[in-house]
Amino acid sequence: MYMKKNLLICTALFAAACDGGADRRGGEESVREVVHGAEIELLQPAASGGLTVDEALRNRRSWREFSPEALSLAEVSGVLWAAAGVNRPEDNRLTAPSALALYPVRVYAFFAEGVYRYDAAAHKLLRVLVGDFRELSGMQPFVFTAPLDLVYIADLSVYEGRDIPAEHVRYLCGQDAAGYAENVNLYTAGHSLRSITRGSYPEADLLAALGLDSARYFVALAQSVGR
Ligand SMILES: Cc1cc2nc3c(=O)[nH]c(=O)nc-3n(C[C@H](O)[C@H](O)[C@H](O)COP(=O)(O)O)c2cc1C
Repeated sequence: MYMKKNLLICTALFAAACDGGADRRGGEESVREVVHGAEIELLQPAASGGLTVDEALRNRRSWREFSPEALSLAEVSGVLWAAAGVNRPEDNRLTAPSALALYPVRVYAFFAEGVYRYDAAAHKLLRVLVGDFRELSGMQPFVFTAPLDLVYIADLSVYEGRDIPAEHVRYLCGQDAAGYAENVNLYTAGHSLRSITRGSYPEADLLAALGLDSARYFVALAQSVGR
C-alpha cells in the first residue's frame, strides 16, 4: 500500500512536470501563437497551473542554452504577468514588491519581430520598435537567439522630490528589478521553461534605440527566456 501510494505520488509529480509548460485554460489557448501587431493583448493569468512553489524553487537555475522556438501566447502572458502583472486589481499592485510602492521599473520585451513595452494595468504589450533588436538586450550570443529577452528599465523621475540620495535610488530600483526577474525565474522553473537573470547589456545603445534619455532612465537588469 505504501509503495502504491508513493507510485501514485510519483506519477502525479511526473505528470505535473511534463505538463509544466501547458496552459490549463484549455488546449487551444496553450498553443496560440503571438501575433506581433501594434498591441499584443495578453491572456489573463490562470488561476492555477505549473509546479508548486516548492517544486519550482528546487528547479530554479540559470540557463544559457535556448531553443529559438517562439513561446506561445499563453507562455508570454504568464511570463509577463509573473514579472510585473497586477495581482490586486483593487489598487493595481503587482506580483513583485516595489520600494515605497513607486514602481519605477518598466518592462520591455524583445522578440525577433519587435520590441514591446508591458502595460501591466491593461495586461498588454505595446509595440515601440519593429524588427529584431535582441542584440541590444545583452552581450552573450545566447541572448541573440532566445525567443524572448526582457529588459528592466528604471525611470528615476519617479523618485523626484523624495530626498533620497541618487545612489540609494539606483540601488532600490535594482532591487525592484531583481524581484521582477526572480518572479520570472520561478515561473519558468515551474512551467517547463528556461530563463536567466542578466546584468550585462550595452546600456547606452539600448537606451538610444528605445529613445530614452540616460539622465532619466537606466537599465536595471535584463533576462532571457525560452525553452
Ligand atoms: C544580478 C545578476 C546578474 C547576472 N548577470 C549575468 C550575466 O550577465 N550573464 C550570465 O551569464 N549570468 C548572469 N547571472 C547569472 C549568474 O551567473 C548565476 O545566477 C550564478 O552563476 C549562479 O548560478 P544559478 O543561477 O544557476 O544558481 C546574473 C545573476 C544575477 C543575480
